[in-house]
Amino acid sequence: MTTHGGDGTGTDGADWDARAASFDEEPDHGLRDPEVRAAWAGRLRSWLPGRACDVLDLGCGTGSLSLLAAEQGHRITGVDRSPAMVALAREKLAGRDAVFLTGDASAPPVGGERYDTVLVRHVLWTLPEPERALRHWRDLLRPGGRLVLVEGVWGTVSPAGIPADRLTALLAPAGGQVRVEHLSGDAALWGREVDDERYAVIAVPG
Ligand SMILES: C[S@@+](CC[C@H](N)C(=O)[O-])C[C@H]1O[C@@H](n2cnc3c(N)ncnc32)[C@H](O)[C@@H]1O
Repeated sequence: MTTHGGDGTGTDGADWDARAASFDEEPDHGLRDPEVRAAWAGRLRSWLPGRACDVLDLGCGTGSLSLLAAEQGHRITGVDRSPAMVALAREKLAGRDAVFLTGDASAPPVGGERYDTVLVRHVLWTLPEPERALRHWRDLLRPGGRLVLVEGVWGTVSPAGIPADRLTALLAPAGGQVRVEHLSGDAALWGREVDDERYAVIAVPG
């Protein structure tokens, strides 16, 4: 595996290095509230394979979902463009079967490695070429592997994000199974009621 440096600026223009220290303060980011944490742990368990597997967490941030997956027995490779996020993820998963790399989620620096699951939460919508990224992520899967994509459209005044129907349309050419799970109604995931679009897509390409 190789790593390459990142400048901490996401493809959405956000300065993620600057946001890293306070990122976990949001309930659904840090998963510090036991109820929120349990809600994500339950969803993740249902989305990931039932046996211990290799999970690639792209745009992993501080590693909150990586840690939940590791606690469920999975082996983690996390990739984030922000060195500050990567440092916090390494700290959070110290002593676990986990490695974190600085790099671009669109073309993760994982060489010829292949994974059972590519997990991406709240990152795809910011990428300049989501269709291309999805094609690349499919190529990183072992046969029978799956994509777990957690996305949404945030805000109602100036909505930002990717709607579920657009994401499923981008996945359609690959065939296989695509399942959408709507998450807006589950306040425990967010630590509050939300009325915008939030969902997960679980896709097993054909
Ligand atoms: C909203 S946060 C989500 C973090 C994590 N996935 C989670 O759900 O807690 C977005 C993360 O994506 C990272 N990011 C943004 N654009 C990226 C890119 N092109 N490649 C890799 N990471 C990126 C940011 O540095 C940040 O850590």
